Amino acid sequence: MTELGEPRLDVGTCESTQLLVDTSLPEGALVVADHQSSGRGRLGRSWEAPAGAALLFSVLLKPPPERPEPELALVAGIAVADALERLLGLSVQIKWPNDVMLRRKKVAGCLAEARDGAVVLGIGVNVEQTNDELPPDAGSIRTLTGRGWDRDDLLSTVLESLGNRYASWRAGGLDAVFDGLGPRDFLRGRQVTVNGTSGVATMIDREGRLAIAIDHGEVVKVESGEVAYAR
Ligand code: BTN
Repeated sequence: MTELGEPRLDVGTCESTQLLVDTSLPEGALVVADHQSSGRGRLGRSWEAPAGAALLFSVLLKPPPERPEPELALVAGIAVADALERLLGLSVQIKWPNDVMLRRKKVAGCLAEARDGAVVLGIGVNVEQTNDELPPDAGSIRTLTGRGWDRDDLLSTVLESLGNRYASWRAGGLDAVFDGLGPRDFLRGRQVTVNGTSGVATMIDREGRLAIAIDHGEVVKVESGEVAYAR
C-alpha cells in the first residue's frame, strides 16, 4: 500500500486543484477543494460542480518510468469503484477510459496529467448535486441512492483504495489490478463509436485499450478517444 494524502492542502475556491499541486513535493501530496472555477475534464472539457456538492481533489504520483501514465486514469477509476462499492453496497462500473458509473450514470471522473516528470491525478465525485445541476448522463450519490455522503469520509476511503491499487499497479502493471477492471467494463457488449470506428465493444485489454469488433470478425483496439455508445 502506498500512503497517499500527505502533505494536504485544503482550499475553498480555486481554478482547478490540478494547478495547485506542487510537483516538487513528495508522492502522495494532496489538494482538496470545495469549489473550482475552471475545473478540468478529459480532452479539454470542463468539470463543473456547485460549491460544497462534489468531492474534488488532486494527488501527486511519481510512477516508475516503465509504467504508462495513461493507465493511471483506469487505476483511479478502479479505486473509486472499489470505494463506492464498499460504502454504498451497490455495484459500480467503469466506462472506458475514465468514467465511473453508478446505475448507468456517470458519478465520477478521473484525469491523469503528466507534469515535470510526475503525474497529477485529479478525481471528481458527484455527491450532493441535484439533477438540475448535472448533465443528463450524470448522477450524484444523492440522485442515485437517495442520500448524500460525508465528503471527507468518501475521500479517505478513495485514498485508501487508491493507495492499494496504485501499489499493485506499480509492482505489476495493469495485469495486477485487472480483477477490478474487466468485470466492471460498462461498454462491453454495447454498440460504440470511437474516433470514427463503430462496432461492438468486446473488452478492455491488458494494455488498457478498448477492443471493438467491427465487420467480418475484425477487432480494432483503440488507445484513447471519445466514446459514443448506444444506451
Ligand atoms: C473527466 O471526467 O473528464 C475527468 C474529470 C476530472 C475532474 C477532477 S475534479 C478534481 C480535479 N481538478 C480538476 O480540475 N479536474 C479534476
